[in-house]
Amino acid sequence: MKSIVIYSSLTGNTKEVAEAITSVLPVGTSCVSMKELPTDLSSYDLVFAGFWVDKGTANKEARDVLGTLHNPHIALFATAGVPPQMAHAKESLVNAANCLPDGVDPVGTFICQGKVDPKVIEMMYKMFPKGHSHGQSADRDARHKQAAVHPNEEDFKAAQEFAKDIIIRLS
Ligand SMILES: Cc1cc2nc3c(=O)[nH]c(=O)nc-3n(C[C@H](O)[C@H](O)[C@H](O)COP(=O)(O)O)c2cc1C
Repeated sequence: MKSIVIYSSLTGNTKEVAEAITSVLPVGTSCVSMKELPTDLSSYDLVFAGFWVDKGTANKEARDVLGTLHNPHIALFATAGVPPQMAHAKESLVNAANCLPDGVDPVGTFICQGKVDPKVIEMMYKMFPKGHSHGQSADRDARHKQAAVHPNEEDFKAAQEFAKDIIIRLS
């Protein structure tokens, strides 16, 4: 099965997860930023496509690429500021899957938490007043603190298990 890992990453979290996934795929499997995609991905049986969550869906660069993937199998992976068990994380995966071409369903999805750029946190806190759902609160501070240590080794292992499971299922 010919596979490729492609990712979009602003601050490096998703790139690290992409590299962890690639490390358990056959030697020589490419891991490519969506900024440097080969023009033709049609020869790949399986594409692992990674994005960072932006406003509850895949970031724009990834959305544009997802819409062009007509490969037999697409697996989605992502990082987000929220922990994976939160509904927002699950909804973000569903929203991203909806960016795939009509009739294409992902063979699997994976999401883990990723640290949020402190400059973005500061900007959000300035932009939204306390009490607003995006404004500063004890819960939000705690979530950012929790996210600051992700993705970690456990996340990388979980991403690798996700990838291995897909390979086994499709073989
Ligand atoms: C502009 C912006 C919007 C974001 N929106 C969300 C969001 O809606 N939900 C969420 O859980 N995380 C959100 N995040 C957090 C990122 O998804 C998270 O930090 C991710 O790990 C960044 O990945 P990267 O390092 O690969 O760029 C946002 C981050 C930025 C910069």
